[in-house]
Amino acid sequence: MNLPYCPPYKIKTVEAITPSTTAQRKKWLAAADYNLFRLRSDQVLIDLLTDSGTGAMSDRQWAALMQADESYAGSHSYARLKKIVCALTGFEHFIPTHQGRAAENILFSALVKPGDIVPGNAHFDTTKGHIEYRKAIAVDCTVDTAYDPDAAMDFKGNIDLNKLEACFKKYPPEKIPFVLLTITCNSVGGQPVSLANIQETRTLCDHYGKRLFIDAARFAENAYFIKNREPDYAAYSIPQIVKAIFDLADGMTMSAKKDGLVNMGGFVALREKSLYNACSVFCILFEGFVTYGGLSGRDMEALAVGLKEVVDFHYLESRIREVHRLGEQLATRGIPLQKPFGGHAIFLDALQFFPHIPREEFPAQLLATALYETAGIRTAEIGTLLADRDPKTRQNRFPKLELLRLAIPRRTYSCEHLDYVVEAVIQLYENRYAYTRGYAILWEAPILRHFTVRLARL
Ligand code: F0G
Repeated sequence: MNLPYCPPYKIKTVEAITPSTTAQRKKWLAAADYNLFRLRSDQVLIDLLTDSGTGAMSDRQWAALMQADESYAGSHSYARLKKIVCALTGFEHFIPTHQGRAAENILFSALVKPGDIVPGNAHFDTTKGHIEYRKAIAVDCTVDTAYDPDAAMDFKGNIDLNKLEACFKKYPPEKIPFVLLTITCNSVGGQPVSLANIQETRTLCDHYGKRLFIDAARFAENAYFIKNREPDYAAYSIPQIVKAIFDLADGMTMSAKKDGLVNMGGFVALREKSLYNACSVFCILFEGFVTYGGLSGRDMEALAVGLKEVVDFHYLESRIREVHRLGEQLATRGIPLQKPFGGHAIFLDALQFFPHIPREEFPAQLLATALYETAGIRTAEIGTLLADRDPKTRQNRFPKLELLRLAIPRRTYSCEHLDYVVEAVIQLYENRYAYTRGYAILWEAPILRHFTVRLARL
C-alpha cells in the first residue's frame, strides 16, 4: 500500500478564533500604529507572529501539572526536570529561568564585560541586546551563502570558521569570553548547523582557549536536520544526536518556549561547577532561588515532559513536514522565499516581493501589515526594523536580508489553516504593485525597537 502521511496525534481540546473583516482590521492596525505587536490577539485570525510559547501542550503535559511541587526550595519538580535536562544534554549543572533571555542575562552577567567581543553564527536579537546592553559587541560570523535566499545549502546556519578565526586573531584573547552557536539559527531563517561545523568550531575554540556555548532554543529541530542531511548521523537516534551536539559545548542557554514544548520556561545548563556557582548568584538576584529560577513547579513539570516529547522522531517529522509543506506550496506558486526551508518558519523575501519599496520604508513591515489587513494573518518583520540602529553611530542598520517570518506554532494549526495562508499570500503577491509606499518611524525605543515602535504610513 502507498498511503498518504498521517500525523502522529489527534485533537483533544479546541480554542475558538475570531473572524474579522478587512475594514475592521484596517481600523485596528491604524490604532496599533502599524505595529502588529500592539494588536489584541482576538483581532488576529491566524497568529504566525512567533513559534515561541504559542504551541499546544500534550495531554501528558497537562496531566503532569497536577503532580507539581510548589515548594520554594528543593522541590521534586526541580529534581525531575534537572534529571531530564542532565540526561538529555550531558551537562551536570542546571539553572531554571523564566525564559531564554533570562538565561542569557544570567550567563552573560557572569561572563561578559564592557568592551568584550562575542562571536557567533548569527545572534538572535535578545542575545545581541543583552551583549550590547553590557557595552560589548556581538559579532556575526555568518556564512555568506546564508545571505542568498535562493542558494541551496544544507546547513546555512553554520558559522564561517574563517571569519571566526579572523575574529580570534583580530582581538586580544581576554576580550573574547566565549563563542555562541545558535541552533537552529533563527536570524538567518531557522537554518540548521551541522555537527561537522559544531565539531570544527570546538576544535578552533580549543586552539584559542575559548568556551563554546549553544543557544539551544530549537535544538531538536536542528538534530532532525542533522539526521536527515548529514550522512554520518543518519543512523543515530534524535537523542543520540542531541547528546553529540552538547558533548561539544561548555554549556547552553535555552528558551524552552520553543523546543521545550511549553508556553513559558528556559534554563542554563553548564559543565563547570565554578561557572554554575557564579551564575547562581545572578539567578537568585534576577530570577529566584536556584531550584525554581522564575518558574512554578507546574512549569517545570510540563517542561520535563515536553523535553521528552520533543526528541521523538515522529513528532519532529510531523513538525518539519508541516512547515515545509507550507514552503513548497508557496514556492511552486512563484512566491519569493528563503530556501531551503528552515525548521520553525517560512521566510518571505520582501525585497523580491516589493522590489519597488525602498529599504528606508521598511518593505518587510509593509508586507506584514498588508497580510494582516487583507487576511488577518499576523507575522513578524525580520528586516530593517528588527536590525535596529548601530549602537555607536545610531544609524539604521540595513541587514543583507529583508524577510517576513511566518512562524508556525507547534501542534497548533491544521493544513487547512495553512492552505488559507498560502492563498492569502498568493493573492497579495498578485496585487503587490497596488502598494506604493511603506512606513516612517514616529517613535522608537533605544533598544529592541521593533516590539514597541510606532509607525506612520507614507
Ligand atoms: N534565542 C533564540 C534563537 C530565540 O529565537 C529566542 C526567542 C531567544 C533566544 C530568547 O528566548 O523569547 O524565551 O526569551 N525567540 C522568539 C522568536 C522571541 O519569536 O523567535 P525568549
